[in-house]
Amino acid sequence: MTRTVLVTGGGTGLGKAVAARFRAAGDTVIITGRRADRLARAAAEVDARPITCDATDPRAVARLADDLGPELDVVVNMAGGNTDFDEPGEGLSPLERTAAAWRANLDANLLSAVLTTTAVLDKLRPGGSIINVGSIGAEYAATSYGAAKAALAAWTAGLSSQVGPKGLTANLISPGYIAETEFFRGQLSDERRAALIDATHNGRAGQPGDIAETAYFLASAGARHITGQTLHVNGGAFTTR
Ligand SMILES: NC(=O)c1ccc[n+]([C@@H]2O[C@H](COP(=O)([O-])OP(=O)(O)OC[C@H]3O[C@@H](n4cnc5c(N)ncnc54)[C@H](OP(=O)(O)O)[C@@H]3O)[C@@H](O)[C@H]2O)c1
Repeated sequence: MTRTVLVTGGGTGLGKAVAARFRAAGDTVIITGRRADRLARAAAEVDARPITCDATDPRAVARLADDLGPELDVVVNMAGGNTDFDEPGEGLSPLERTAAAWRANLDANLLSAVLTTTAVLDKLRPGGSIINVGSIGAEYAATSYGAAKAALAAWTAGLSSQVGPKGLTANLISPGYIAETEFFRGQLSDERRAALIDATHNGRAGQPGDIAETAYFLASAGARHITGQTLHVNGGAFTTR
Protein backbone atom coordinates (compact mmCIF):
# COMPACT_ATOMS: atom_id res chain seq x y z
CA MET A 1 0.00 0.00 0.00
CA THR A 2 1.32 3.45 -0.88
CA ARG A 3 1.38 5.62 2.20
CA THR A 4 1.48 9.38 2.55
CA VAL A 5 4.33 10.52 4.77
CA LEU A 6 5.00 14.01 6.16
CA VAL A 7 8.57 14.77 7.25
CA THR A 8 9.08 18.16 8.88
CA GLY A 9 12.64 19.44 8.58
CA GLY A 10 13.01 17.20 5.54
CA GLY A 11 15.25 19.53 3.55
CA THR A 12 18.58 18.49 5.09
CA GLY A 13 20.31 15.94 7.30
CA LEU A 14 18.24 13.32 9.07
CA GLY A 15 14.92 14.53 7.69
CA LYS A 16 16.13 14.27 4.11
CA ALA A 17 17.44 10.75 4.78
CA VAL A 18 14.10 9.73 6.29
CA ALA A 19 12.23 11.21 3.33
CA ALA A 20 14.47 9.33 0.89
CA ARG A 21 13.95 6.04 2.78
CA PHE A 22 10.15 6.21 2.62
CA ARG A 23 10.20 7.43 -0.99
CA ALA A 24 12.50 4.54 -1.99
CA ALA A 25 9.80 2.18 -0.70
CA GLY A 26 7.25 3.84 -2.97
CA ASP A 27 5.54 6.08 -0.43
CA THR A 28 4.34 9.59 -1.26
CA VAL A 29 6.47 12.00 0.75
CA ILE A 30 5.97 15.65 1.71
CA ILE A 31 8.87 17.57 3.25
CA THR A 32 8.83 20.90 5.07
CA GLY A 33 11.35 23.48 6.21
CA ARG A 34 11.76 27.25 6.40
CA ARG A 35 14.32 27.76 3.60
CA ALA A 36 12.43 27.38 0.34
CA ASP A 37 15.58 27.00 -1.78
CA ARG A 38 17.06 24.24 0.39
CA LEU A 39 13.73 22.49 0.47
CA ALA A 40 13.25 22.65 -3.31
CA ARG A 41 16.69 21.13 -3.90
CA ALA A 42 16.05 18.29 -1.46
CA ALA A 43 12.59 17.70 -2.92
CA ALA A 44 14.06 17.30 -6.41
CA GLU A 45 16.76 15.00 -5.03
CA VAL A 46 14.47 12.61 -3.18
CA ASP A 47 11.34 13.08 -5.31
CA ALA A 48 9.22 14.56 -2.54
CA ARG A 49 6.69 17.40 -2.47
CA PRO A 50 8.08 20.51 -0.74
CA ILE A 51 5.92 22.79 1.39
CA THR A 52 7.65 25.74 3.02
CA CYS A 53 6.54 25.94 6.65
CA ASP A 54 7.93 27.18 9.95
CA ALA A 55 6.83 24.48 12.38
CA THR A 56 6.84 26.93 15.30
CA ASP A 57 4.29 29.23 13.64
CA PRO A 58 0.67 28.12 14.31
CA ARG A 59 -0.68 29.93 11.23
CA ALA A 60 1.94 28.40 8.95
CA VAL A 61 1.24 24.95 10.38
CA ALA A 62 -2.50 25.42 9.89
CA ARG A 63 -1.81 26.35 6.23
CA LEU A 64 0.36 23.25 5.89
CA ALA A 65 -2.47 21.09 7.17
CA ASP A 66 -4.82 22.70 4.64
CA ASP A 67 -2.32 22.07 1.82
CA LEU A 68 -1.94 18.39 2.65
CA GLY A 69 -4.41 15.93 1.23
CA PRO A 70 -7.21 14.59 3.41
CA GLU A 71 -5.28 11.52 4.57
CA LEU A 72 -1.88 10.89 6.07
CA ASP A 73 -0.21 7.71 7.31
CA VAL A 74 3.02 8.83 8.92
CA VAL A 75 4.26 12.08 10.43
CA VAL A 76 7.93 12.39 11.31
CA ASN A 77 8.59 15.49 13.42
CA MET A 78 12.23 16.06 12.54
CA ALA A 79 12.25 19.88 12.51
CA GLY A 80 14.44 21.17 15.30
CA GLY A 81 18.01 21.60 16.41
CA ASN A 82 19.96 23.35 19.11
CA THR A 83 19.14 27.04 18.75
CA ASP A 84 22.00 27.88 21.12
CA PHE A 85 24.22 27.56 18.01
CA ASP A 86 22.47 30.60 16.55
CA GLU A 87 23.52 34.19 17.31
CA PRO A 88 21.77 35.58 20.42
CA GLY A 89 19.61 38.68 20.01
CA GLU A 90 21.18 42.14 20.34
CA GLY A 91 20.66 44.47 23.27
CA LEU A 92 19.22 41.97 25.73
CA SER A 93 19.95 41.86 29.44
CA PRO A 94 21.50 38.59 30.68
CA LEU A 95 18.17 37.37 32.02
CA GLU A 96 16.30 38.38 28.85
CA ARG A 97 18.95 36.50 26.89
CA THR A 98 18.35 33.41 29.04
CA ALA A 99 14.60 33.66 28.49
CA ALA A 100 15.03 34.10 24.74
CA ALA A 101 17.42 31.14 24.50
CA TRP A 102 15.10 28.81 26.43
CA ARG A 103 12.03 29.90 24.48
CA ALA A 104 13.87 29.37 21.20
CA ASN A 105 14.82 25.78 22.01
CA LEU A 106 11.39 24.95 23.44
CA ASP A 107 9.75 26.40 20.33
CA ALA A 108 12.11 24.67 17.90
CA ASN A 109 12.06 21.23 19.48
CA LEU A 110 8.85 20.85 21.49
CA LEU A 111 6.22 23.25 20.19
CA SER A 112 7.12 22.43 16.58
CA ALA A 113 6.16 18.77 17.05
CA VAL A 114 3.11 19.59 19.18
CA LEU A 115 1.72 22.03 16.59
CA THR A 116 2.34 19.80 13.57
CA THR A 117 0.94 16.69 15.24
CA THR A 118 -2.13 18.54 16.52
CA ALA A 119 -2.79 20.05 13.09
CA VAL A 120 -2.65 16.73 11.22
CA LEU A 121 -3.99 14.31 13.84
CA ASP A 122 -7.44 13.98 12.26
CA LYS A 123 -5.86 13.07 8.91
CA LEU A 124 -3.89 10.11 10.26
CA ARG A 125 -5.44 6.82 9.20
CA PRO A 126 -5.62 3.77 11.49
CA GLY A 127 -2.33 1.90 11.24
CA GLY A 128 -0.49 5.22 11.08
CA SER A 129 2.51 6.40 13.05
CA ILE A 130 3.73 9.55 14.76
CA ILE A 131 7.50 9.64 15.07
CA ASN A 132 9.15 12.41 17.07
CA VAL A 133 12.87 13.01 17.18
CA GLY A 134 14.56 13.73 20.49
CA SER A 135 18.22 13.63 21.42
CA ILE A 136 20.73 11.90 23.66
CA GLY A 137 21.08 15.41 25.08
CA ALA A 138 17.79 14.78 26.93
CA GLU A 139 19.63 12.29 29.16
CA TYR A 140 22.41 14.50 30.46
CA ALA A 141 22.57 17.96 28.89
CA ALA A 142 21.64 20.60 31.48
CA THR A 143 20.63 22.98 28.70
CA SER A 144 17.45 24.34 27.19
CA TYR A 145 18.04 21.98 24.24
CA GLY A 146 18.29 18.90 26.50
CA ALA A 147 15.26 19.99 28.52
CA ALA A 148 13.22 20.61 25.36
CA LYS A 149 14.05 17.15 23.99
CA ALA A 150 13.26 15.54 27.39
CA ALA A 151 9.89 17.30 27.38
CA LEU A 152 9.28 16.06 23.84
CA ALA A 153 9.93 12.48 25.00
CA ALA A 154 7.53 12.91 27.93
CA TRP A 155 4.84 14.37 25.67
CA THR A 156 5.31 11.53 23.18
CA ALA A 157 4.65 8.91 25.86
CA GLY A 158 1.39 10.63 26.81
CA LEU A 159 0.43 11.13 23.18
CA SER A 160 0.71 7.39 22.65
CA SER A 161 -2.10 6.77 25.15
CA GLN A 162 -4.31 9.33 23.39
CA VAL A 163 -3.82 8.02 19.87
CA GLY A 164 -3.58 4.30 20.62
CA PRO A 165 -7.37 3.80 20.54
CA LYS A 166 -7.37 5.29 17.02
CA GLY A 167 -4.94 2.59 15.85
CA LEU A 168 -1.96 4.94 15.80
CA THR A 169 1.46 4.58 17.42
CA ALA A 170 3.56 7.42 18.82
CA ASN A 171 7.26 6.96 19.51
CA LEU A 172 10.39 9.03 19.85
CA ILE A 173 13.74 8.29 18.23
CA SER A 174 16.59 9.64 20.32
CA PRO A 175 19.75 9.96 18.21
CA GLY A 176 23.27 10.21 19.58
CA TYR A 177 25.87 12.04 17.53
CA ILE A 178 25.03 11.72 13.84
CA ALA A 179 27.49 13.02 11.24
CA GLU A 180 26.71 14.60 7.86
CA THR A 181 24.00 17.00 8.98
CA GLU A 182 23.88 20.78 9.55
CA PHE A 183 23.14 20.28 13.25
CA PHE A 184 26.40 21.70 14.66
CA ARG A 185 26.48 24.71 12.30
CA GLY A 186 30.21 24.09 11.70
CA GLN A 187 30.91 24.53 15.42
CA LEU A 188 31.90 20.94 16.30
CA SER A 189 35.60 20.82 17.16
CA ASP A 190 37.73 17.80 16.22
CA GLU A 191 38.26 17.11 19.94
CA ARG A 192 34.55 17.15 20.73
CA ARG A 193 33.77 14.99 17.70
CA ALA A 194 36.42 12.44 18.80
CA ALA A 195 34.96 12.41 22.33
CA LEU A 196 31.45 11.78 21.03
CA ILE A 197 32.66 8.85 18.93
CA ASP A 198 34.79 7.57 21.80
CA ALA A 199 31.65 7.41 23.98
CA THR A 200 30.06 4.83 21.64
CA HIS A 201 30.55 1.05 21.95
CA ASN A 202 31.03 0.58 18.23
CA GLY A 203 33.53 3.38 17.70
CA ARG A 204 31.72 5.31 15.01
CA ALA A 205 29.52 8.30 14.43
CA GLY A 206 25.90 7.64 13.58
CA GLN A 207 24.89 8.07 9.95
CA PRO A 208 21.61 9.58 8.71
CA GLY A 209 20.71 6.12 7.40
CA ASP A 210 20.73 4.76 10.97
CA ILE A 211 17.87 7.12 11.82
CA ALA A 212 16.09 6.63 8.49
CA GLU A 213 15.97 2.85 8.94
CA THR A 214 14.69 3.22 12.52
CA ALA A 215 11.91 5.57 11.43
CA TYR A 216 10.98 3.26 8.58
CA PHE A 217 10.80 0.32 10.96
CA LEU A 218 8.65 2.20 13.50
CA ALA A 219 6.14 2.93 10.74
CA SER A 220 6.13 -0.67 9.51
CA ALA A 221 3.49 -3.36 10.05
CA GLY A 222 5.94 -5.26 12.28
CA ALA A 223 6.15 -2.40 14.79
CA ARG A 224 2.46 -1.99 15.67
CA HIS A 225 2.94 -3.06 19.31
CA ILE A 226 5.77 -0.59 19.85
CA THR A 227 4.25 2.66 21.10
CA GLY A 228 4.94 5.22 23.81
CA GLN A 229 8.63 4.41 23.65
CA THR A 230 11.94 6.21 23.27
CA LEU A 231 14.24 4.35 20.90
CA HIS A 232 17.88 5.24 21.45
CA VAL A 233 20.07 5.15 18.34
CA ASN A 234 23.53 6.06 19.57
CA GLY A 235 25.99 3.15 19.20
CA GLY A 236 25.80 2.52 22.95
CA ALA A 237 26.75 6.05 24.04
CA PHE A 238 23.70 5.93 26.33
CA THR A 239 22.34 2.57 27.48
CA THR A 240 18.97 1.60 28.95
CA ARG A 241 17.58 -1.20 31.15
N1 LIG B 1 22.81 15.40 14.06
C1 LIG B 1 22.82 15.03 15.32
O1 LIG B 1 23.89 14.66 15.85
C2 LIG B 1 21.55 14.99 16.13
C3 LIG B 1 21.60 14.37 17.38
C4 LIG B 1 20.45 14.31 18.16
C5 LIG B 1 19.27 14.86 17.69
N2 LIG B 1 19.24 15.47 16.48
C6 LIG B 1 17.94 16.03 16.04
O2 LIG B 1 17.65 15.58 14.75
C7 LIG B 1 16.80 16.50 14.08
C8 LIG B 1 17.35 16.79 12.69
O3 LIG B 1 18.60 17.46 12.82
P1 LIG B 1 19.80 17.25 11.78
O4 LIG B 1 20.91 16.67 12.53
O5 LIG B 1 19.33 16.59 10.56
O6 LIG B 1 20.22 18.78 11.52
P2 LIG B 1 19.84 19.75 10.30
O7 LIG B 1 20.54 19.29 9.08
O8 LIG B 1 20.14 21.12 10.81
O9 LIG B 1 18.28 19.56 10.09
C9 LIG B 1 17.29 20.27 10.78
C10 LIG B 1 16.19 20.57 9.79
O10 LIG B 1 15.07 21.10 10.47
C11 LIG B 1 14.59 22.23 9.76
N3 LIG B 1 13.99 23.12 10.74
C12 LIG B 1 14.56 23.64 11.85
N4 LIG B 1 13.69 24.42 12.49
C13 LIG B 1 12.53 24.38 11.77
C14 LIG B 1 11.27 24.98 11.91
N5 LIG B 1 10.99 25.83 12.91
N6 LIG B 1 10.31 24.72 11.00
C15 LIG B 1 10.56 23.88 9.97
N7 LIG B 1 11.75 23.28 9.78
C16 LIG B 1 12.72 23.54 10.68
C17 LIG B 1 15.82 22.84 9.07
O11 LIG B 1 15.49 23.53 7.88
P3 LIG B 1 15.25 25.11 7.84
O12 LIG B 1 16.37 25.74 8.60
O13 LIG B 1 15.27 25.45 6.38
O14 LIG B 1 13.92 25.35 8.46
C18 LIG B 1 16.62 21.58 8.73
O15 LIG B 1 16.26 21.08 7.47
C19 LIG B 1 16.71 17.73 15.00
O16 LIG B 1 15.48 17.70 15.70
C20 LIG B 1 17.88 17.54 15.95
O17 LIG B 1 17.67 18.16 17.19
C21 LIG B 1 20.35 15.55 15.68
